[in-house]
Amino acid sequence: MAIQRTFIMLKPGVLQRRIVGEIVSRFERKGLKIIAMKIMIIPPVLAATHYAEHKGKSFYDELISYIISAPVAAMVLEGEDVIQLVRRMCGHTAVCESLPGTIRGDYCLHTNRNIVHSSDSPESASREIKLFFQPNEIVSWDDGNSAFF
Ligand code: CMP
Repeated sequence: MAIQRTFIMLKPGVLQRRIVGEIVSRFERKGLKIIAMKIMIIPPVLAATHYAEHKGKSFYDELISYIISAPVAAMVLEGEDVIQLVRRMCGHTAVCESLPGTIRGDYCLHTNRNIVHSSDSPESASREIKLFFQPNEIVSWDDGNSAFF
């Protein structure tokens, strides 16, 4: 068990459907700590850097145009083994594989509108957190309730 940080992005449809609170509350109820959070419109260059590994794939152009089309909510969560845990809470990337009870399983129908992005490894988390947040935007705080989760 290790305390980790992970990057989460609630994609444009989440704000437009007014369900930011519902999604964020899943992470809070689990006991994860929000240590950074902001609403932003992603500049095209940042979108291309963030999704560089997908450049050339069939879904890339649509992915970039969607992600820059409207504001997103970007967050950093902290907790024990949070990277894998949050991936499991989000559900499978392909929406038809994502199980009920997961965020994607409960809230979306199309893989290219799969509502949420979360880092897939410690290396990705570190890279993505640095891309989206300045160090002074991350607030680490003591959790007196951690023993209760
Ligand atoms: P995300 O976790 O943001 O990472 C890449 C995104 O590309 C993914 O979620 C989906 O929104 C989108 N995407 C669309 N089609 C595919 C696909 N076939 N495989 C993986 N990702 C896809």
